[in-house]
Amino acid sequence: MFDLMLYIHIFAACSWIGGGMLLFAFGILIRKKHEQTAVYGVIGPLYGYFESFWLFILLATGFWLLDYHSLVGLIGKNGSELEYMLNMKILAVSLVLVATAVHLLVAIKTHGKSRTTIQTLLSRGGSLAIFFLNFAILRYAIEIRSVLH
Ligand code: HEM
Repeated sequence: MFDLMLYIHIFAACSWIGGGMLLFAFGILIRKKHEQTAVYGVIGPLYGYFESFWLFILLATGFWLLDYHSLVGLIGKNGSELEYMLNMKILAVSLVLVATAVHLLVAIKTHGKSRTTIQTLLSRGGSLAIFFLNFAILRYAIEIRSVLH
């Protein structure tokens, strides 16, 4: 069971981060406004469901793995390397959740419409935050695994 959960957790991490990287690349490479509107208009909602699904799977399997290793009691503690890495990972994941919620709310509210400057800033800030936080989460994940095994 443990191997299956870890497999699903890592597969979900690949899908979540891979999907994010692809859309981030689209944001940089598709420069023409009408092309951006067409591309995001079609893939935007699909992408939202896709990413939310994998984030949910990451949370569910992540907490399962935490429980399997009897690490739930370490949440909020900061006495060892493992506790530090674990709590940093949970903090980064929490920030990703906030950034994803902000990004999704703006996307749902403005789908197919033009955006105000604040909405554009919130949406771009959200995706930029997710992009960088994913690097930190991966780093903490690797550190946690090397302490555990
Ligand atoms: C964006 C969310 C997340 C991503 C991208 C992510 C990514 C990963 C990756 C790639 C690994 C494997 C590391 C390696 O093999 O070196 C891993 C392991 C792990 N993750 Fe996550 N994770 C996420 C969320 C969570 C959450 C919310 C928890 C629980 C609070 C969690 C708990 C764990 C644990 C305990 C392991 C180690 C399992 C083991 O080695 O036995 N993860 N994570």
